[in-house]
Amino acid sequence: MVGPTSGRLASGRLGSGRLVEISEVIAAIKQVFARHGKLSGRRIVVTAGGTREPIDPVRYVGNHSSGKMGYAIAEAARDMGAQVTLISAPSALLSPAGVEVIQVQTAKQMYEAVVNAVKGAEVLIMAAAVADYSPVNVAENKIKKDSDKLTLHLVRTVDILGAVAAQGLIKVGFAAESENVEENARKKLREKQVDIIVANDITANDSGFNVDTNEVLLIDRDGRTAKLPLMQKSELAVRILDKVAELLNNR
Ligand code: PMT
Repeated sequence: MVGPTSGRLASGRLGSGRLVEISEVIAAIKQVFARHGKLSGRRIVVTAGGTREPIDPVRYVGNHSSGKMGYAIAEAARDMGAQVTLISAPSALLSPAGVEVIQVQTAKQMYEAVVNAVKGAEVLIMAAAVADYSPVNVAENKIKKDSDKLTLHLVRTVDILGAVAAQGLIKVGFAAESENVEENARKKLREKQVDIIVANDITANDSGFNVDTNEVLLIDRDGRTAKLPLMQKSELAVRILDKVAELLNNR
């Protein structure tokens, strides 16, 4: 059974009786077919979007992440039968049906949400672009344009991927690189103790931030590297999750 949902009805009255959004009907159908999917019964936590670190009530330190990559992974994992929690920093995308969505703003809030969500989960996939620094002090009132220059003091945020560890948790990280892509990604794989790192070159026009496609290197803990061609983020999501399913089945 899908729906009905409430709202304004043809009779002009308000109440239960509207057709649910078609995207929700499709998601429900996909979930039925996913019952015997590769990730059936698995609990997966995905992060998406770019965190916002407030400077004052009006401004923030942010980045160009649209959430497309993380949302595509959450949807693909759902369609492969997983129970998915999506922790999303601000994004214009609609919450995917059949996925538990937790909205956050800052790196600290994302950290707290991830720590909570990974309890009992088997996989954490961090596609979010998390701020590495946030303002030391958040001004209570809007900062006035009193001088020509303004200095902001920033402090390191917690490295969520590096800090979160739970028994048996498979961790997948992304590396957003503008130079020495493979070398820097391998460094992140080691330092953040992840099982798979997905390295994207963010200088290419059709890869990385705020586009529908991505071209990546998949590197695993044993050093195996796969260079994937340019593809839709929805397709890449399936490729990443296939690799995750392999790791889950081989342990
Ligand atoms: O959202 P889209 O517009 O679709 O764009 C997709 C993307 C470019 C954001 C995505 O593909 C991507 O690369 N995400 C990771 C961006 C990033 O923050 O990369 P990084 O190299 O700075 O961080 C490495 C890893 O550590 C990432 O998995 C990141 O989520 C994680 N991290 C970073 C900082 C921090 N404080 N805590 C973290 O856990």
